[in-house]
Amino acid sequence: MESTAPPERRTRVGGESPCAGVRRVPAESGEGSGGGNVTPGDARGGRGAPPDGLQGERWPGHGLLERPGAGSSQRSGWGLVLTGVAGGALVAVYAVATPFLTPALRKVCLPFVPATAKQIENVVKMLRLRRGSLVDIGSGDGRVVIAAAKEGFTAVGYELNPWLVWYSRYRAWREGVHGSATFYISDLWKVSFSQYSNVVIFGVPQMMPQLERKLELELEDHARVIACRFPFPHWTPAHVTGDGADTVWAYDASTFKGREKQP
Ligand SMILES: C[S@@+](CC[C@H](N)C(=O)[O-])C[C@H]1O[C@@H](n2cnc3c(N)ncnc32)[C@H](O)[C@@H]1O
Repeated sequence: MESTAPPERRTRVGGESPCAGVRRVPAESGEGSGGGNVTPGDARGGRGAPPDGLQGERWPGHGLLERPGAGSSQRSGWGLVLTGVAGGALVAVYAVATPFLTPALRKVCLPFVPATAKQIENVVKMLRLRRGSLVDIGSGDGRVVIAAAKEGFTAVGYELNPWLVWYSRYRAWREGVHGSATFYISDLWKVSFSQYSNVVIFGVPQMMPQLERKLELELEDHARVIACRFPFPHWTPAHVTGDGADTVWAYDASTFKGREKQP
C-alpha cells in the first residue's frame, strides 16, 4: 500500500543507509530539533561522518558534533561557576569584616586601633620594677601582650574579634613568646580581672567610668592599672608619661580601692 505521508517526511539524509537499524534523521524540516537521538554514524551510515547539513560543526576538543543549544548550556555552566565564586567571595568578606565591625555597633563602641610603638614603649616604662601577671583588656593584634611577655610577664589578652586572637597567637608563636602570651576570645565585660596584678587598657572615653567601677571591685590592692590615650575619670594617677595620643597613665589599686564604698 502507498504511504500517505508527504514525500519530505519519508526523506532520509544521505539516502538509504547500508547499516541495519538506521534511524530517521531530521533533515532541513527541523524535525526533532534537539537532535539528541541522532549520531553522525547513524546519519551517514559511517563512523564519525556528520550529515551533510551539519558538516564542520564540531564540539571543541571532543571532535563531536555540537548539539543545538550546547553552547548556551556551556555558557550557563560558566555562569554558575562565576556565581558560586562571587557568592563564596562575598561570604568570605562578610566573615572577615563582621568581627571588625561589630565592636562599633555595641553599646560601647571600641574599635580596633593598634597601639603605636611609642605608646607601647610608655606602657613598658610604667611596668618597670613590676612582675607577675598582666592582662591587656581588648588585646587587638596582641602587640601589648607580646611586648609584656618579652619583658618577663605572664601576659594574657582578652579580645572579642576571633581573627585578631588567632593572629595574636600566630604572632606570639613567631616571636617565640607563645609560652608566656595567651589569648582568649572573650567579652571584656564578662571576664573577672581579679587574678591580674597588672592591667593595661587602651579604651575609649565612654567606657572608662564603667570599667573604673568594675576594676575597683575586682582588683587586689597590689594591682597597677595602665590606661593608654584616655585616662580614668575619677582616679588619681601615680605616674603619667608621654604626650598627645601616646600619653599613658599609671594608677595603683591601693589608692583607688575603697572608693566603691564611698556614697
Ligand atoms: C583600641 S583597640 C586596642 C588594641 C590593643 N590593646 C592595642 O593597644 O594595640 C581595642 C580592642 O578592643 C576590642 N574590643 C572591643 N570590644 C570588646 C569587648 N567587649 N571585649 C573584648 N574586646 C573588645 C576591639 O576589637 C579592639 O581590638
